[in-house]
Amino acid sequence: MTEQASDVFSDLAQAMPGSPAVSAHLVIFGATGDLAVRKIYPALASLCHNSLLSPAMRIVAVGRTPLATHAYVQNLRPRLEPTIPAPCLENLLPRITYLGMDPTEPGAAAELSTLLDTMDAGQTHTRIFYFAVPPTAYASLAMRLGEAGLGREKPGQAVRLVVEKPFGRDLASAKELDWVLHHFFSEEQIFRIDHYMAKETVQNVLFLRFANVLFEPLWNRRYIDHISITAAESLGVGRRAEFYDQAGVLRDMFQNHMMMLLALCAMEPPSSFEAELVRDERSKVYRALRSLDISHLPENLVLGQYGPGTIQGQPVPGYTQEPGIAPDSTTPTFAWMRVFLDNWRWHGVPFYMCSGKRLAEKRTEIAIHFKDVPISMFHQSKDPHIPANRLILGIYPDELVRLEIQTKGHGSHTITHTQAMDFMYGASSTDRIDDYAKVLLDCIIGDQTLFWRQDAVELCWSFLTPILEHCNCPEHAVPLHQYPAGSLGPERPVKSTAFANCEKE
Ligand code: BG6
Repeated sequence: MTEQASDVFSDLAQAMPGSPAVSAHLVIFGATGDLAVRKIYPALASLCHNSLLSPAMRIVAVGRTPLATHAYVQNLRPRLEPTIPAPCLENLLPRITYLGMDPTEPGAAAELSTLLDTMDAGQTHTRIFYFAVPPTAYASLAMRLGEAGLGREKPGQAVRLVVEKPFGRDLASAKELDWVLHHFFSEEQIFRIDHYMAKETVQNVLFLRFANVLFEPLWNRRYIDHISITAAESLGVGRRAEFYDQAGVLRDMFQNHMMMLLALCAMEPPSSFEAELVRDERSKVYRALRSLDISHLPENLVLGQYGPGTIQGQPVPGYTQEPGIAPDSTTPTFAWMRVFLDNWRWHGVPFYMCSGKRLAEKRTEIAIHFKDVPISMFHQSKDPHIPANRLILGIYPDELVRLEIQTKGHGSHTITHTQAMDFMYGASSTDRIDDYAKVLLDCIIGDQTLFWRQDAVELCWSFLTPILEHCNCPEHAVPLHQYPAGSLGPERPVKSTAFANCEKE
């Protein structure tokens, strides 16, 4: 077992004393879909590879297509073979029972309930219902499970729902979904996944801040000038046209991933690293978010849509020429936003959040820009301005912590040089637990730390909904700028680019 796996293993053993690999049955709704094949099965394989999957764990794969289990497995095998090593695949596939049905139909869950009881064979196993289905099906699926009594827990038998984003499409629909889920399931049973929280480098933000004494004294309005949070992508809308055109970048990236990164940068230290305490602190950040002034929106919000261009030397079509997108679509594929937090730590410090598709490169990072030195004593220098220190938390492609400091230029009395001190996160571990495996494991052991709580979801929607409504009005106060695919996106009012590393102040 690798060092990292053994750490996870000891977390697990601590969470469930006497039970190193928790016994759970996993029901995957949407088992023939992309998410199951790309993320869920590989995550299970990663757990299996690290001996973290109980031999008693069974998988119920639910799909609408009527199929026998052996036919489902036969179809699944070639889709998984390229990503899952053979021994893990042979371990996983025999655990699967396929159920062909529409789980949102009245009465459908009764069949599932009977199957799970048979699988339990008088024992108690945690039950996990993974909603890998379109978000429009969440409410009816939860209702069917609830009506069939599948939300009820017994001693030693926890029941958990795993729900992928988007959690609603505005404040009202998020509340409505929540109302249905909570009618049958308690908040402790609902695990709202944000796959950004599954990334080791994202989790590392809290370790960097709160496991070191070095940064925290500087982590405030006194020393930090601004913070840029960037999630730039070079990919376009791909095969998700239908979903994306309804969502746009604000719902797809801001309501969840960008807000999560913001909270990790800005939150106060919780008194202990326990799920509810960590989540309380994240929610407090959202409570401090200042509403964007709708009458001056363009100063704080830039929206864009990619036109035709070139990515890595290849011509690519513009957004409205993509298959499945209407030629007159006004869905933004790029957004830059300046937000402020009204609290003592951050008052007056701008947070620039920027995300877009079909930009020059894929880069995800947080850049902490410290203030300038109060005065330069190197005034004889040709360039008396001393660049400010920056701390870069690289999430993709470089998984790193980079501290930029100023040093004396060789041979010169007065010239400063910016030097980078790097910690390469990826290099510190050769064999990593798959990101999704970590969140799946947390769900199995019932640790909610990395998941969204409903109050935070609603607070983020409260912030974004007025903006979305305003952008949707016919007058459209925020212009939609075209940017060529492969560029850095539209101009922003402030010099804080989508790529903090290329930034030239
Ligand atoms: C998803 C969005 O949640 O995150 C996608 O729906 C986006 O549109 C993706 O491409 C980005 O994730 P990552 O991990 O590649 O940065």
